[in-house]
Amino acid sequence: EKSGHDHFMHKEIFEQPISIADCMRGRLNAEKGELTLGGIRNYAKALENAERIIIIACGTSWHAGLVAEYVFEDLCRIPVEVEYASEFRYRNPVIKEGDIVIAISQSGETADTLAAIELAKSKGAIVLGVVNTVGSSISRVSHEGAYLHAGPEIGVASTKAFTAQLTVLYMIALKAAFNKGTIAENRFREHLRELSLIPAKVEKALKTNDKIEEISDLFKNASNFLYLGRGYNFPVALEGALKLKEISYIHAEGYPAAEMKHGPIALIDENMPVVVIATRDSSYDKVVSNIQEVKARKGVVIAIVTEGDSLIPGMADFTIEVPATHESLMPLVSVIPLQLLSYHIAVMRGANVDQPRNLAKSVTVE
Ligand code: M6R
Repeated sequence: EKSGHDHFMHKEIFEQPISIADCMRGRLNAEKGELTLGGIRNYAKALENAERIIIIACGTSWHAGLVAEYVFEDLCRIPVEVEYASEFRYRNPVIKEGDIVIAISQSGETADTLAAIELAKSKGAIVLGVVNTVGSSISRVSHEGAYLHAGPEIGVASTKAFTAQLTVLYMIALKAAFNKGTIAENRFREHLRELSLIPAKVEKALKTNDKIEEISDLFKNASNFLYLGRGYNFPVALEGALKLKEISYIHAEGYPAAEMKHGPIALIDENMPVVVIATRDSSYDKVVSNIQEVKARKGVVIAIVTEGDSLIPGMADFTIEVPATHESLMPLVSVIPLQLLSYHIAVMRGANVDQPRNLAKSVTVE
């Protein structure tokens, strides 16, 4: 079952070039400039014309939703709210007829997400499910949706489902934007091409494994970690921190890098490893300043950078290179070293990687 891997999580991390390709198979044709999402037909127009989109999810799926917020707003120019399902369902939310709710769930069985969907439906919203498990409860109660086609995810820590969620959400946004006319054909085609190159880039990002293993050995006994990112990489910082806490039991926090000076900067000293996602994008210069702020307080910086970066290696204590891509697609690549970091640290600490204490693969109680 583990096909030669020590853990399901290891297998699932290394499977991602394939699972992402599987997710695009039959849907995306970069040469022809075609994108087909068979699962979203009847409500495709409703999505394009929506006045707002509400995304509901929990945990890692919620992080995928945060990335999607930036993507939908940028490409489709539709306002997006991203909500924890557990908060949404209990706070008398404003939902109007015709609002689009996108529910994201790997298992399709998360109790809070399911209840939030029922609430949204009762108020006239159209629910699109982004689900991995075929035939699951959430896939059945959604009006329409798109499956991840990532294959079963067994490890409690979500890895390949996250990258497949990003891929599906990106395709949904791209298709709606093109049909709506908020992006021109050449930009649409360019995004399709970039997306089609992602599996090969993820494959390359996986080559950071050995270096990450060495870094893991140096930090396996740390008691706190901070993860920082901006823009599209902000949700990746949250996801990196979640991965570390859930399987290695090390306290970790993810923050938008600029928020550091509003509090968390007080935590930084020479014992604090700070993982900064600092790939080349529109917030690069700002992130570089944030790295300087951490270094000025003697923090230890582990930076995830774009291949060929010549500035950050001179500032950070450790740098990990990942291939360049469009900034909106970078989370698919930049999350890979963070998944590997949490995996290696957990293994080195002797933790039960696939079944961490106190956690279940799908949370079917509220
Ligand atoms: O099956 P779902 O995507 O609805 O699950 C949501 C969360 O329970 C899940 O992502 C959880 O946070 C993972 N253990 C994170 O790795």
